[in-house]
Amino acid sequence: MKALILAGGAGTRLRPITHTRAKQLVPVANTPILFYGIEAMVEAGIKELGVIVGDTRDEVIAALGDGSQFGATITYIPQDEPLGLAHCVLIARDFLGDDDFVMYLGDNLLEQDLAAFVDAFEAARLTTAPPSAQILLKQVPDPHRFGIATLDADGHVEHLVEKPDDPPSDLALVGVYLFDPSIHEAVAAIEPSGRGELEITDAIQWLIDAGHRVRTEVLTGWWIDTGKLTPLLEANRLILERIDSDIAGAVDEASSIDGRVVIAEGAEVVSSTIRGPVAIGAGTRIVDSFIGPFTAIGSGCEVTHSEVEHSVVMDGSRIIDIPRLEDSLIGTDATVSRSRRKPRAVRLMVGDHCQIDVE
Ligand code: TTP
Repeated sequence: MKALILAGGAGTRLRPITHTRAKQLVPVANTPILFYGIEAMVEAGIKELGVIVGDTRDEVIAALGDGSQFGATITYIPQDEPLGLAHCVLIARDFLGDDDFVMYLGDNLLEQDLAAFVDAFEAARLTTAPPSAQILLKQVPDPHRFGIATLDADGHVEHLVEKPDDPPSDLALVGVYLFDPSIHEAVAAIEPSGRGELEITDAIQWLIDAGHRVRTEVLTGWWIDTGKLTPLLEANRLILERIDSDIAGAVDEASSIDGRVVIAEGAEVVSSTIRGPVAIGAGTRIVDSFIGPFTAIGSGCEVTHSEVEHSVVMDGSRIIDIPRLEDSLIGTDATVSRSRRKPRAVRLMVGDHCQIDVE
């Protein structure tokens, strides 16, 4: 079994952050989103990974390297334009060969392990009516935003539709799929959709229409498609919920730490209150500040005379004299400061290298 991890795409919904970086590398709880998926793949025993890369390939390659840091080997597959999820399968043909594979959307985060999902497919493949594909489904309140499945009485997929105006069910396709080699025939046979993409839902529908079985599993834990600000902050919250305290940095006597907090080596907390769950990266200085629950502050940052809560602050950024910053995503090497102190909360999505002065 191999894995095909999709780390190309446009990332329009996370601009301005994605003007300068791959959305799959935005950190949650100070670890790039993509790392969680790769780690889950390796834990499920899948170590031969193909990674689809687009415009941000240099950054993705720099972060993942040859895969040895994860105990895996990585083959990069360049995609010149984001022409759809099924297009990714098409261009990965040589890498995938005739193996079964997991396809994983690099901006998705799942609570559940992948091992059980993979095992269920492998067991079903040994039966007399083996499936050619397996999809993971989750009930969602807003089905018009997703690929949606309708099932027959046995739980096999009958019909799939991408982002329907009039959803036939509330069962969304989670960004993890399992395929046998018959998917290659399907992706070669379908035509681009109205939005100009080769849709994986159309490829799976092609399999069904050609008489193949498509199994389903329903996801029990949470699943987040992190492509927008609110789900990204939610993912940060859910991952921080799971951290264990680890204080390697320096905390002075005038500071207090409550709850589960990670303070990395070389970080410094001076005259401040940190109320977990919170993660603070290496070499970051927190001075005369309050860092509230569900906040991740990257490495080499500075927070002075400020309150930050329920936010992600990326590496090298400075928050100075901000009475309250909440529900915010601050890019790398950005500065958010204010010249006069007035009691006002700010909510921001700040791109890399920006300088924001709150008057
Ligand atoms: P999407 O979130 O569906 O698309 P996108 O990245 O273009 O984002 P936006 O809608 O904000 O513009 O993509 C899901 C994942 O698959 C994501 O990790 C990007 C990746 N992807 C590719 O690698 N190639 C593609 O052709 C597409 C469409 C997505």
